[in-house]
Amino acid sequence: MDKYGKVPKLVTVIVGDDPGSEMYVRMKREASEKVGILSDHYGLPEKTTEKELLFLIDKLNEDPAVHGILVQLPLPPHIDEKQIIGAIAPLKDIDGFSPANIYRLFHGDEELTSATPHGIVTILDHIGMNDLSGKHAVIINRSTIVGKPLIFLLLNRNATVTVCHSRTANISDFTRNADVLVTAIGRRKSKDAPFFITSDMVKDGSVIIDVATPHGDVDFDKVKEKVLLITPVPGGVGPMTIAMLLKNVVSAFSAQVAA
Ligand code: GUN
Repeated sequence: MDKYGKVPKLVTVIVGDDPGSEMYVRMKREASEKVGILSDHYGLPEKTTEKELLFLIDKLNEDPAVHGILVQLPLPPHIDEKQIIGAIAPLKDIDGFSPANIYRLFHGDEELTSATPHGIVTILDHIGMNDLSGKHAVIINRSTIVGKPLIFLLLNRNATVTVCHSRTANISDFTRNADVLVTAIGRRKSKDAPFFITSDMVKDGSVIIDVATPHGDVDFDKVKEKVLLITPVPGGVGPMTIAMLLKNVVSAFSAQVAA
């Protein structure tokens, strides 16, 4: 209970029964409860229509006891994610995915920013790399959840940013020149050579942030000998993502109860 006599509340929504989504949402709810954030959950059937989901979001938008709404992605293909994300009230959009919050990020306001990229730059801030002037940051990922918001977060810190993805030719030409390398490929390269990022692909003394789950993209044991810092998987970006989400819930709560 805070000075306003209210407690922050997060509502999570999953449509369908993807085991990955179930696990991530469970972790987010458990972490919320640990720090005293209330949480509620809607597990909706796969056949839920876009209209039904929009109806639920409207109801949550209007409920003054709900401060944060998290619709876990991906949604089933018959539901337009853009419509759903766009329907969440910007003040309750603790994922930072709504058009209003993307626009704020675009202009350098990071108050409600997507949790995974925000966790990544918070690691960099924490090791004194909050000004990346003259540094080359390379991102391997172009998703709306990680790669795209991260471009702006890194630009806000004066980095020179390159984005690589599945259609980039000769990725190692970029990674070898990266002072900061953020990789979020998230699958094994092959059975015999599982890691996409090997020690010959990284710059001496660089910082490597491995976002991939459940297995890292980086050959951790070899690469760690060459670099200044490397985040492990698990135990690196994952816990930071959860921490940033909690921060967003508290920040959304403060903006609403103080409004
Ligand atoms: N799916 C994968 N990551 C995320 C996330 O950060 N938020 C939501 N809502 N869905 C996701």
